[in-house]
Amino acid sequence: MFNVAEVRKDFPILQRKINGYDIIYFDNAATSQKPVQVIEAVKDFYSKYNANVHRGVHTLSQETSKLYEGAHEETAKLINARGIEEIVFVKNTTEAINLIAYSWTLHNLGKEDEVITTIMEHHSNIVPWEILSKLRGFKVKYADIKDDGTLDYECLEKLVTKRTKVITIAHASNVTGVINDISKISKLAHENKAILVVDGAQSVPHMPVDVRKLDIDFLAFSGHKMLAPTGIGILYGKKELLENMDPFIGGGDMIKSVKYSKIKDCCTIEWNSLPWKFEAGTPNVGGAIGLAEAIKYLKRLGMENVQEHERQLTQHALKLLQEDENIVLYGPRDSLTKCGIVSFNVKGMNHHDVALLLDNFGIMVRSGYHCAEPLHQRLGAGGSVRASFYIYNTKEEIEKFAEILEKIENVR
Ligand SMILES: Cc1ncc(COP(=O)(O)O)c(C=O)c1O
Repeated sequence: MFNVAEVRKDFPILQRKINGYDIIYFDNAATSQKPVQVIEAVKDFYSKYNANVHRGVHTLSQETSKLYEGAHEETAKLINARGIEEIVFVKNTTEAINLIAYSWTLHNLGKEDEVITTIMEHHSNIVPWEILSKLRGFKVKYADIKDDGTLDYECLEKLVTKRTKVITIAHASNVTGVINDISKISKLAHENKAILVVDGAQSVPHMPVDVRKLDIDFLAFSGHKMLAPTGIGILYGKKELLENMDPFIGGGDMIKSVKYSKIKDCCTIEWNSLPWKFEAGTPNVGGAIGLAEAIKYLKRLGMENVQEHERQLTQHALKLLQEDENIVLYGPRDSLTKCGIVSFNVKGMNHHDVALLLDNFGIMVRSGYHCAEPLHQRLGAGGSVRASFYIYNTKEEIEKFAEILEKIENVR
């Protein structure tokens, strides 16, 4: 296990005080804080290397291209992809899922087909499929959850038919923290000749994820939730699937050639090789450099250790919150089946009021639907308060949080 006190020293923002209180950052599911190693790597890049990638023969462009490609390699190793041809850099998880929805769906799905998702998804794994279903005429079906917040696997299995072409699901819920059994769902998808799309926004930053072991066809995740800068996201796709897809965005660097024919009065375009075929325009090079450093940082800690640390924090938070009779908790009470996310409401109080009151004491939590309104509808909640943990959080912070929460309840 790593030394949390040492880890905390790497995060300058944790030195801040808010309203005179030490900052307690429990909004990690929204975005993580950044260690000095990542901040320095980005600064170093702009100070010493900055140039465009794949566009110049000069030294700076060559060096930048090497760093940028190295970031793809680092990412491929983290999730055990076969190589950088399976790693496409995008803006975030949202863009990665949109890329799959547009590029794969446009040529593979029609009126007869069905896509299965679940009601526990973040909006970014619902809205793109609904948009494409209007364009292509396929149906989107929703698997239900059980009352404890876990996926209803029986319901999911019953929804699968010969028409099912895609199962798309979050690895971990950003509200209840429930971790879905991706191996089981992958088997179900592949036995029925469907592809499996996994939203890894809340799993890849927090636990080991092996795309080959889990047999995932597409995986989407965001750098900013795993210590990297904002604006860099990742789409993993099996090479054979990416090869057979047309790009979603066209422009520079994603083509091998664009030839104009005067006779036909049009251009014939040959796509670039993978992954560049899907990376049109000047990419977020600084973000990619930061991502590579963030991955190195997490690997030094060990992803198993990251998961274990968060499990212990979650178990502690669940225990303290369950002792408080004014708290309504959502999702399982067992930290072994969920990631480091605890959502709840205080009886008789609005979730935003609770978050604002916590903020008075320097405690940062999220309030609202967390971009998962259908799940809140199913849970019978008009919103919730969410505390989410990461490598730099401590048991002492959770105790402080529980203590302040009790104080706040008296405001009702
Ligand atoms: C499960 C899940 N999916 C997708 C997203 C969207 O991530 P991004 O805003 O980085 O695109 C989030 C963000 O909170 C998430 O928690």
